[in-house]
Amino acid sequence: MPSRRKLIVVSNRAPVAFSRDAGGERVASRGGGGLVTGLRSLVSHHDVTWIASAMSDEDRVVAEEAGGEAIEETAGDGSPYRLHLVLHDPSAYDRYYNVVANPVLWFIQHYLWGLSSSPDVDQGLHNAWSEGYVAVNRSFAEAILAELEREPDAAVFFHDYHLYVAPRMVRERAPNTTLAHFVHVPWAMSEYWRVLPEPIRRAVHEGILANDVVSFHTPRWRRNFLRSCEDVLDAEVDHDAGDVRYGGQLTAVRAHAISVDPEEFDTLAESPEVRAEESALVEDRPEFLVLRVDRTDPSKNVVRGFRAYELYLEAHPEMHGRVQMLALLDPSRQDIPEYAEYLGAIQRAARVVNDRFQQEGWLPLAFEIQDDFIQAVAAYKQFDVLLVNAIFDGMNLIAKEAPLVNTRDGVLILSENAGAHEELGEWALTVNPFDVAGQAEAIHEAITMAPGERRERLHAIKRHVREHDIGSWIEAQLQDLDEARERTGSTLSA
Ligand code: F6P
Repeated sequence: MPSRRKLIVVSNRAPVAFSRDAGGERVASRGGGGLVTGLRSLVSHHDVTWIASAMSDEDRVVAEEAGGEAIEETAGDGSPYRLHLVLHDPSAYDRYYNVVANPVLWFIQHYLWGLSSSPDVDQGLHNAWSEGYVAVNRSFAEAILAELEREPDAAVFFHDYHLYVAPRMVRERAPNTTLAHFVHVPWAMSEYWRVLPEPIRRAVHEGILANDVVSFHTPRWRRNFLRSCEDVLDAEVDHDAGDVRYGGQLTAVRAHAISVDPEEFDTLAESPEVRAEESALVEDRPEFLVLRVDRTDPSKNVVRGFRAYELYLEAHPEMHGRVQMLALLDPSRQDIPEYAEYLGAIQRAARVVNDRFQQEGWLPLAFEIQDDFIQAVAAYKQFDVLLVNAIFDGMNLIAKEAPLVNTRDGVLILSENAGAHEELGEWALTVNPFDVAGQAEAIHEAITMAPGERRERLHAIKRHVREHDIGSWIEAQLQDLDEARERTGSTLSA
């Protein structure tokens, strides 16, 4: 068993979200998203204080009641941890989340801007940077420093693109603390960072290089980051070792692929809730089920996926009535115009397919816009083809979760730009996310693939995911933390 560490985990989204039920009672539900799922097992094995934003109204009430302190919480498996919800100024938080982090940084890191027309870096964005993003990062830094006073030898573990400038703020006031940062999204090539004005792109890079360790899911994003440190900051980079020296700080840059907890999925797949959903699905299922499960995020490329399916139906009239695409879509970030418009585009694209091909008793494309994890797991078990055609994606955990529990020798169609492709590409049908003709052809190839080949490919993916699970992801990072502590000479807290 690994020794217990004192860890301060910092992410924008908390592992639980508070709300009130119909009877007015406070309920805590599991926070959404891959990051939070991945980190939950940290709580079972280590002494964790988790710092996150108070996002919902009830989160804010909980944070107010706690008066700036952490509260004792219990994870799903009964493990205790401390949760410190940070109360941000609402207007600062809106600009941080809805103006800077999710449109601007997210769009840069997934190459989503059409640069001939957007973005306009206007005064609004400059203000949102300083009064939103930097201000919220400062509130996070204050909360971290308060927790470090309580546990001076804890290591701080930052997550994601919401928190690029906080590490430097912490480093300035707690210089000997071990700081690590995991970036769950791709790192764009350095030229693309030039969309941001020089002071902002410099602050992003300088902020993150205040960490002792910076990690990505794949060597591809790590490579881009190393180059970007040279280009944006003129930092000294050792590409072979993966080390960056800048401003007196040595940062180790690493790549560790996030994964899932196979046991959790095995249990879930056999649970009464999933079985009930699955029975309903089986009653209605077509001969061939093409599945996609995504947040309604422009990076997920849902619209091109629908277009590819339309091209497939156009080329294969013999499959009409025999195949159905099921799209389970979790509505995401709807306060941001780009995301709200994208959801509209998804609905329009689905309409086009159904208007064109629908017949009595056959709906070619069924889609649901709701967050329903149980329904997703039931569909994971039943797909014949899983379409993951993301434009760019840090990892894409659906490409791991769904094959793991699939019972039909389903075929994975996988974008060459999803982080998961670096691990699973050899057993998937690879597609270019922009090539809708190629994706239509891949759907055909998957549906007509010989049964033996389907089985072999699926079983290879299952094996790989079981052998490279979430536990190994976490262990690799803790080892990086230990190495960083050895390098800086600070003591281990076990
Ligand atoms: O991919 C990055 C990520 O932070 C994931 O962990 C998560 O699935 C998603 O983005 C959640 O985004 P949000 O917290 O904005 O809903």
